[in-house]
Amino acid sequence: MTASYPNTRLRRTRATAWSRAMHRETVLTPANLIWPLFVTGGKGVEEPVASLPGVSRWSVDLIAARAKEAVALGIPCLALFPNTPLGHRSDDGAEALNPDNLMCRSIRAIRDACGSDIGVLTDVALDPYTAHGQDGLVDDAGYVLNDETVAVLVDQAVNQADAGADIIAPSDMMDGRVRAIRMALEMNGHTNVQIMAYAAKYASAFYGPFRDAVGSGGLLKGDKKSYQMDPANTEEALREVAFDIAEGADSVMVKPGLPYLDIVARVKARFEVPVFAYQVSGEYAMIEAAVAAGAGERDALVLETLLAFRRAGCSGVLTYHAAHAARLLNG
Ligand code: PBG
Repeated sequence: MTASYPNTRLRRTRATAWSRAMHRETVLTPANLIWPLFVTGGKGVEEPVASLPGVSRWSVDLIAARAKEAVALGIPCLALFPNTPLGHRSDDGAEALNPDNLMCRSIRAIRDACGSDIGVLTDVALDPYTAHGQDGLVDDAGYVLNDETVAVLVDQAVNQADAGADIIAPSDMMDGRVRAIRMALEMNGHTNVQIMAYAAKYASAFYGPFRDAVGSGGLLKGDKKSYQMDPANTEEALREVAFDIAEGADSVMVKPGLPYLDIVARVKARFEVPVFAYQVSGEYAMIEAAVAAGAGERDALVLETLLAFRRAGCSGVLTYHAAHAARLLNG
């Protein structure tokens, strides 16, 4: 028999704050947040990113302070992205393999300052290092080559792990890269270095401000539709996730975030593995634009959107609002 009014009044448990607290199904804590940070060259540099109000690029010497801030806030992990100087970008993205590139120097600076108090997640893809802004090696027609790119990504991942990265996060969407990276990590003594695969990453219009932040936007020729997924597809996302888990991913990511929570929920229900989502740059910019236009209140928008990720099944969220959200959550 189905419950019916007035036997059942769903508003009863909503009537008071203590009762709402007691019946809350989902919680959000700072431990659910991963903070993406942009690194740039120079010393003592904080460079605001115009299309991401409130977000800056930091020089390596200032990154450790951000890491200490994160530790104090209870944020367990940082995600690093370099704005490689133009002169160090090339068609083959060789700077990605330089043990003294911005990424590796940042990892070491964070490690020196915080030891193992915080995790460092590093993006594996060539777009911050290539002169053409694509995530891999391109042929004469501009097509991103799969197997040739995977060979470079493997070396990039080992370079990052050698510098002290804790989580390797391939965001390139090449086929077979998770297995290749896992094997290389094992062979190079990095058995405890995790892989968080950007498993279902869509060719999205929400990445624009990020490309400004890493300086690849103006360079990018064409689009990324021959490797990032079609926003129309769900079954394909499930196949991507199945492959990445079988190939050795410890956790998987869905990206972008809010417009793709249906994918998060499907992945979580099907695979029962740790799922993360990336609330990407365009989503952050949309919230900030809404706040600037007086269309919403920042703190409430931030906490509600992040809670929605948790409700959909995410273990955690990469978000540019991480530090602000953690401050709110810590009261
Ligand atoms: C690089 C990468 C991108 C993002 C994360 N890693 C951009 C892209 O694929 O073009 C986007 C993150 C964001 O928009 O916040 N492969």
